[in-house]
Amino acid sequence: MTTSIPNIGLGTFRLQGQVVIDSVRTGIEVGYRHIDTAQIYGNEAEVGQAIADSGIARDQLFVTTKIWIDNLAPGKLIPSLKESLRKLRLEQLDLTLIHWPSPKDEIPVADYMAALAEAKAAGLTRLTGVSNFTNAQLAQAIAAVGAAEIATQQVEIHPFLQNRKVVEFARSQGIHVTAYMPLAYGKVMLEPVIVRIAERHRVNPAQIALAWALQQGFAVIPSSTKRANLENNLKLQGIVLTAEDMAQIATLERNERLANPEGLAPAWD
Ligand SMILES: NC(=O)c1ccc[n+]([C@@H]2O[C@H](COP(=O)([O-])OP(=O)(O)OC[C@H]3O[C@@H](n4cnc5c(N)ncnc54)[C@H](OP(=O)(O)O)[C@@H]3O)[C@@H](O)[C@H]2O)c1
Repeated sequence: MTTSIPNIGLGTFRLQGQVVIDSVRTGIEVGYRHIDTAQIYGNEAEVGQAIADSGIARDQLFVTTKIWIDNLAPGKLIPSLKESLRKLRLEQLDLTLIHWPSPKDEIPVADYMAALAEAKAAGLTRLTGVSNFTNAQLAQAIAAVGAAEIATQQVEIHPFLQNRKVVEFARSQGIHVTAYMPLAYGKVMLEPVIVRIAERHRVNPAQIALAWALQQGFAVIPSSTKRANLENNLKLQGIVLTAEDMAQIATLERNERLANPEGLAPAWD
């Protein structure tokens, strides 16, 4: 049984139908043991099918889902998680995240964090956490349920949005960070600074972006629909960026936020 969050996972945002089935099936085949989905992705059933088809033992796989904002209201979170489990064909999630804080904090953080803790106590999920929380909202979540109940804060992190304030606060509270969209949806491949570092290390730019995140202690959850890219994104062992590489990538920060849905995004730090 995996006791902590595996540091490389497979993202499934945007992937639907046979595309997500193939991505997850191939991902498991080439060695991914951590799959990231969400209620709103509309692909939990397909992810569940791919997991079942893979024949992998349940205790070898780490599966995350995320609670959509419509299910944060009292009485809705637990039934929605049971529905996710049914679609995923699992008895228990490894990790369940609050996908986005309730818009305009309409539902208080303490209320849905309590419901999430209740879901964990009922055995529906092994670990719980949050995503897209501001530091103020993370502080409220900690006040409500304690930092130990927050296994990770999953936020957008790549070389163009390094999210330093959020990382620093999470670290100060002893909370692990997961970097979502770690390839900036493919844009890192085109960045000359990253391309040059990749050439020096004789790897590809995606591997540099992922190694950069891992080296800071984050988990990464890149997605891909191609076997070659899936394999590439897993092969990070032995890539050690120098202090100079890290310093050069640090200069690429430009607050370029790719996931910023209007009406949903909180007042970012
Ligand atoms: N919590 C949240 O609110 C939230 C928000 C966004 C995302 N996420 C999670 O984070 C995951 C990752 O984010 P993302 O999927 O949006 O973006 P991403 O992983 O940064 O980038 C995926 C894109 O990069 C391409 N790619 C992957 N590996 C590559 C490689 N080695 N070389 C060249 N291109 C490569 C993929 O194309 P190919 O298919 O052609 O390989 C795809 O277009 C999501 O799937 C989701 O699970 C969470």
